[in-house]
Amino acid sequence: MGESKGEAGPRHVLVLAGDGIGPEVTQGALRILEHLAERAGLNIHLTHDLAGGACYDRHGEFLRDDTLEAARNAHAILFGAEGGPAWDDLEIEGGPTARSGLSRLRKELDLYANVRPVRAWPGLAHLTPFVPERIEGADLIIVRELTGGVYFGEPRGIATHRGETRAVDTQVYTESEIERIASFAMALASRRQGLLTSVDKANVMETGVLWRRVASAAAARDYPDLTLEHLYADNCLFQLVTNPRRFDVIVADNLFGDLLSDCAAAIAGSLGMLPSASFGPAKAGGKRLALYEPVHGSAPDIAGRNIANPMAAILSVAMMLDTSFGRPDLARRIENAIESVLRENVLTRDLGGTASGDEMTEAILAALT
Ligand code: NAD
Ligand code: IPM
Ligand code: MN
Repeated sequence: MGESKGEAGPRHVLVLAGDGIGPEVTQGALRILEHLAERAGLNIHLTHDLAGGACYDRHGEFLRDDTLEAARNAHAILFGAEGGPAWDDLEIEGGPTARSGLSRLRKELDLYANVRPVRAWPGLAHLTPFVPERIEGADLIIVRELTGGVYFGEPRGIATHRGETRAVDTQVYTESEIERIASFAMALASRRQGLLTSVDKANVMETGVLWRRVASAAAARDYPDLTLEHLYADNCLFQLVTNPRRFDVIVADNLFGDLLSDCAAAIAGSLGMLPSASFGPAKAGGKRLALYEPVHGSAPDIAGRNIANPMAAILSVAMMLDTSFGRPDLARRIENAIESVLRENVLTRDLGGTASGDEMTEAILAALT
């Protein structure tokens, strides 16, 4: 899917650190990226730009056209986080999605496949609501559809209807949208344990009926050896919190995938532990444009205090090295360094410790060498 080892020329990474803790955790992630790239002879060229509220304050829009163009031409995009109280309640034409530079990036770059790996990290079980025996070894991936569904469906808006104010959102999926995300998840599951859980609400939603039908047909046609199961979203959440080890790959629509992944962060011990990668369609040669970002948001409650956990951003860089730059060896080194830092109890506040974000980054750097 990514690029092969040893390709010539610089790898262009567009960095959009964004708002709140976005710049803090991105700074940590870039230190790790630059450290590894320098030693591994990887020629990484970074370009920084504004996105989200920071961009709105400067330019009056949440993402500029120029930035979108730069993202389209980059080898990879590293995103921090966006949003915060200064912008969350702004009334913008087009509604909440129009307030999100990230949503524009995802939609306009067609980054439809959002991969959110979740694992129970050694030494963090006590921070979770689980008893260790229930989660040790949990290792699953949520594949979230990222460019469709209720996030972008029309009609939408708030207007007067029959004498009262009414809000409308539309959940809509086409067969091809479902097919491409289901196929992406199936390819991933077939490289792992071969179990794909497809999530929907086919008992109440038409989109769920189609989701189930299309996923089943694609599996029967292209992945006969794969085990495909269908779970209603509510039941899936219940099973995620009672028996997370039973899952391998989960595929869900945009909204269910969003909810499932924050919930699954409880397995990892903190939202600060969950990375993600969002992929566009395969281009010639099989490469995909990809955006890497932590699952968490801008955490305004802790921003600017150097206490945010940078691990989700750092693990997002690991995903970038693995998939976009064809260096799984460097990705494993980051994961191993994180494991050893956790074992040494260098923990930020969300993990029950007192280390600052910078101290955690330093500890990871030290564990890498
Ligand atoms: P959030 O993920 O920002 O924070 C939820 C909780 O988790 C907070 O208590 C926060 O302190 C904690 N947390 C999150 N990341 C952490 C980290 N790395 N280290 C330590 N603690 C961490 O979600 P929210 O509070 O619902 O949203 C805040 C803002 O972020 C909103 O504007 C929202 O729209 C936005 N948001 C952006 C993204 C994104 O950019 N991808 C994702 C989610 C939310
Ligand atoms: C996420 C976030 C976003 C989403 C927001 C910031 C638009 O919660 O990336 O998980 O809902 O997709
Ligand atoms: Mn979310």
